[in-house]
Parts: sequence; structure tokens; C-alpha cells
Amino acid sequence: MTLCLGIETSCDETALALVRDGRLLAQRIATQIDAHAVFGGVVPELASREHLRALGPLLDGLTADAGVRLGELDAVCVARGPGLLGSLLVGLSLAKGIVLATGAALVGVNHLQAHLLAPALERPIAFPALGLLVSGGHTQTYRMDSPTAFATLGRTLDDAAGEAFDKAAKTLNLPYPGGRFIDLLGRMGEADPALFPRPYVANDSLDFSFSGLKTAMVNHVAAHPDLRAPALTDDLDALVADLRARGALEPLARTCASYTLAVADTLRIKTARALDANPGMRSLVVAGGVAANSVVRRTMAELAAARGLDIVLPPLALCTDNAAMIALAGEFLFHAGYRHGLDLDAVPRGRRIPWDYRQVRPHPA
Ligand code: KG4
Ligand code: ZN
Repeated sequence: MTLCLGIETSCDETALALVRDGRLLAQRIATQIDAHAVFGGVVPELASREHLRALGPLLDGLTADAGVRLGELDAVCVARGPGLLGSLLVGLSLAKGIVLATGAALVGVNHLQAHLLAPALERPIAFPALGLLVSGGHTQTYRMDSPTAFATLGRTLDDAAGEAFDKAAKTLNLPYPGGRFIDLLGRMGEADPALFPRPYVANDSLDFSFSGLKTAMVNHVAAHPDLRAPALTDDLDALVADLRARGALEPLARTCASYTLAVADTLRIKTARALDANPGMRSLVVAGGVAANSVVRRTMAELAAARGLDIVLPPLALCTDNAAMIALAGEFLFHAGYRHGLDLDAVPRGRRIPWDYRQVRPHPA
């Protein structure tokens, strides 16, 4: 039996979870959305302080929920990047403190790889797998040979897919983060496949570039200013009723559907190309906030079916940041014998995460 604590503080969710033998035992999450809302985005300094304030009470609550003592932990698994540097350091400090006090193993976890392993909390993933991570900050494809062997295939050269949704939403005067609103409005309309480009596909690269698509939306709205929502509201029902009454719903819904289709098509083209370059995959794993998008889910399920692959899409609750995925990814590493020392460092967004584990004798199964 293995008991792992997961610690996630890379952005604006403070999360702790306990995983025992691959199964979620308990988790606690404190979201900071309200603390940052007045500033219109995540304020890094504030995020660090909020993590520090939240972690102690969350840890007490978690251990009480699960009836577990810290002394029982085999490993403390902590998100070590990519993320906000100060926020990551708060999580790392807690992890090192617990390790010092209990003698548990320390395992630093790549937050992006943990997103792709999250669905394994519910059912096993057949490896080798092709992983597509689509979030607000990252768009990346990986070849996953095992839960502990990832090779990066493609990454975004500029904006992430989620950013492309959020910036388009801002242009349309929809609230932040706007991916969900574009998705919902798009479902009320018919997509025009010719309205937006499929950016950066006329090459043989596996990388992504979404900034041109965002610009296409800015230009489209500049030419059709009536598309902008009349008032910034997150009450979608009221917005839809108002738009419908003014005959303005159809053009906005068509714009959103067309934009969503352009993002989903681009992801499909690049993922298909990555599959061509990596024969022998058994499954296609899609994770991150944009994996919540209805068209992206359908498109990727169709691609997997056409290639005879198992499609792995996490339930929506596992798409967003959580500590269960960190504990699980850490447990895989722990079992394979990978450990970190107390010199484990945080890696901010934009820097490559080093493979700097110490290998010990793998834990007996
Ligand atoms: O992975 P995530 O929760 O956070 C990080 O970026 O780490 O992803 C958030 C992103 C945002 O850009 C949000 O707009 C997008 O996921 N998103 C969606 C949908 N739900 C969330 N994008 C498109 N359609 C959705 N249904
Ligand atoms: Zn994340």
C-alpha cells in the first residue's frame, strides 16, 4: 500500500489531495478567484500569500477527512512547475517541511504531465499514448510511453488554445475566462467553416500558433461591431434572451461556432500529424481546461475512432487544476523509484522542466 499527498499551488487554486494505490482518498481545494477578480486577472504576489494562508487549514481538514496522520505518508508529491514562481515556492516549502518532519519521500511533479495522467484516477490509460494538453497557458502534444516517460512533440509558439478563446471572448465583450461562453453560444448556431483560418497548418511542424486566429477575430469584430455583447454579464440566459429579442443571437452564435470549429480543426490537424509521426499509439488523451469544450471533445473522439485508438477524456472536474492529479503522477514516479532531494527547485512558466530525479530501487509493487 502506498499513500501519497499531492500539493498544487502553481496558479490560483490551493489544492491538497491524498491518493492511496492510485485511488483518490480525499481532497480539499481553496479557489482564489474572488481575491483576484477585482484586479481582472491573477496577481502573482497575492496568489503566493493566499496559498500560504490557505495551506495550513486545508492540510488539517484533509487529514481529518481521511483519518490519516502525516507520519503514514510514503511520499509527498508537489507541483514544481510550470507556474507562478512565488506560488510554487509556497507549495514546495510545505512539501519539504513535511518530508523533514516525517521522513517521507519527496517527489516533484510536472504540472502539465499530471493533467494528462488525471484520467487514470478513474480508469487505466493504455500506453503508449498520444497526449494533447490544451489549457489557458499551454497547448502541447506529448508521446507518453508510460506514466513516467513523456516526450514533447509540439508546443505553441505564441498563444495557448485557451488564451485564443479568452481573447476572442474579450473582443466579443464576453466575461473572463470566456472559453465556456464561446462554447455555449456556439452551440446555438451553425458554424461557417470559411469564416476563420486554421492557423499555422500549411507546414510540416507539430507546433501550434494561435495568435493569427485571435487577430482574425479582432478584424472580424471590427468589421461587424454589432457582434459585441451589449453589456458585460456572466448571466448567459439573460444575454441570450436580450440578443434574441434584438435578432442579434444568430450572427454572434455563428461567429462563436465558427471560431470554435477553427480551434478544434487546428487541434485535430496537428494531433493527426503527431499520430502519423508516432505509429503504434494505443490511446489519445486530451486534458486541460479546453478539453471541456464540446466541439474539441467530439472532434478528438472522432479522430481517435478513425485511428482505432482509445479516447481518454477526463471528466470536467478533473480538467481544471487539482491536487489529485499531482498525487497520482507523483505516485507513478515514486513506484518507479524516482525521488527528489531537498534541493528541489521550482520552475516558472516558459522554462524547460529538468529531469533531475535521483533513482532509487523501485518500490516493490
Ligand atoms: O486548464 P485550465 O483550467 O487552467 C489553466 O490554464 O491552467 O484552463 C483554463 C482555460 C481557459 O482559457 C478557459 O477559457 C478554457 O480553459 N475553457 C474552455 C472551456 N472551458 C474552459 N475553452 C473552451 N470551451 C470550454 N467549454
Ligand atoms: Zn493546470
